[in-house]
Amino acid sequence: QSLGGEGCSLLPHGHFWIASQRVVALGRVGPAAVEVKEGLINAIAVGDYRSFVLRRPLVDYGDAVIMPGLIDVHAHLDEPGRAEWEGFSTGTRAAAAGGITTLVDMPLNSFPSTVSEETLKLKVDAARDKLYVDVGFWGGLVPENALNPSKLESLLNAGVLGLKSFMCPSGINDFPMTNSSHIEEGLVTLAKYKRPLLIHAERIPDVSSDEELDGELDPRS
Ligand SMILES: *[C@@H]1O[C@H](CO)[C@@H](O)[C@H](O)[C@H]1NC(C)=O
Repeated sequence: QSLGGEGCSLLPHGHFWIASQRVVALGRVGPAAVEVKEGLINAIAVGDYRSFVLRRPLVDYGDAVIMPGLIDVHAHLDEPGRAEWEGFSTGTRAAAAGGITTLVDMPLNSFPSTVSEETLKLKVDAARDKLYVDVGFWGGLVPENALNPSKLESLLNAGVLGLKSFMCPSGINDFPMTNSSHIEEGLVTLAKYKRPLLIHAERIPDVSSDEELDGELDPRS
């Protein structure tokens, strides 16, 4: 919809305005117009909504929300292997519909898990031509690569944004849990790259130990 009569597409314009009654900016949600110049936000005008229509070209989005694109760093896009749970096409379309412009994919739930340069390549190949938003990838820190710095480095060099590991069973057979030596060794390699380690930091008490079963906690809950 356009108050200015220029039609919906702003693509031919290097300089334009978008407006709505609900712009998320400057610490509030309310009427505003956003000026975009050569791909960058140049100004945000708040105030009398009717005055915005004087700016050209302008698309008025009415009640629809205009906001910065959100980044979801914990998404499971389970291709290849488990697209029936979620896939690149469905997951990134749903993200776009919800205002999310970047997803970062977790290294488990697809098959195989993203734990090597080769398995990251399978992910990237599976994603080709199916993305509606930007997507980045986490890699997995697992026993198989944790004590092998050259394997970890090839995964990091291939472009994962950081690593994820589990301190308890992950529920996925080809994503085994790490012990403290794996985590310490993995951190040495990660530190060289200045990329983060994300840890599912849940310890499930040893069910054979009476001491840990004492008290209120059900270790399975
Ligand atoms: C962790 O597991 C590795 C085998 O992958 C083993 O060599 C190491 O001793 C274990 N570390 C601890 C603290 O249990």
